[in-house]
Amino acid sequence: MKKIIVAVSGASGAIYANRLVRWLVQNGHRVDFLISNPGRKVFELELGKPPKDQAGWRKFFNDRKGRLHYHAPDDFNSSLASGSVKRDGMIVIPCSMGMIARIAGGISSNLIERSADVTLKERRPLILVFREAPLSLIHLENLAKLSRAGAIIIPAAPGFYQRPKKIEDLVDGLLGRTLRQIGIENNLEKEWRDDG
Ligand SMILES: Cc1cc2nc3c(=O)[nH]c(=O)nc-3n(C[C@H](O)[C@H](O)[C@H](O)COP(=O)(O)O)c2cc1C
Repeated sequence: MKKIIVAVSGASGAIYANRLVRWLVQNGHRVDFLISNPGRKVFELELGKPPKDQAGWRKFFNDRKGRLHYHAPDDFNSSLASGSVKRDGMIVIPCSMGMIARIAGGISSNLIERSADVTLKERRPLILVFREAPLSLIHLENLAKLSRAGAIIIPAAPGFYQRPKKIEDLVDGLLGRTLRQIGIENNLEKEWRDDG
């Protein structure tokens, strides 16, 4: 069982976070879940009204065993704000370019940015799944800076060579790779390849 922080920002692609968190809790992992205020807005456009509290999120993700722990983005008293509380890594998915910039600048103006800052300083895996196109030089320089600082940068750009049949196939292919980067083996790519 791993303890993974999953944060959702205001980039397009809430479906990635939805399927990732469901998979993690259903496969016995603990998830510390955060969503930014812009993230809530994009989530609503893409998936419907987001829950407000931990009970609502557990229901949404079908987490019957209480593995999901929700943290409000302004809760700096959260254990996630401290490096002394050990987690196995953090995934920001989808990650906005604003979030990329603020993490690269060490801004820590909310709990997502602070948790990412802590993850980097404690030398734990930080995975940033960004979604933006095209990219400006500012975006590219921020991504390069984060990569040099140890973050793993994954563009939300799924592959097509396995002939995906539905959107979920594309999403799961990307999630399979993302999970392996944080040390969680999985069959997400294989599962959807086998049933065709
Ligand atoms: C519908 C919608 C889609 C968006 N998609 C993206 C996106 O794919 N990538 C991105 O960097 N910003 C995107 N944005 C802009 C971010 O939501 C905005 O920069 C926000 O301030 C990010 O805040 P956060 O990083 O705190 O979540 C989108 C905004 C909206 C309303």
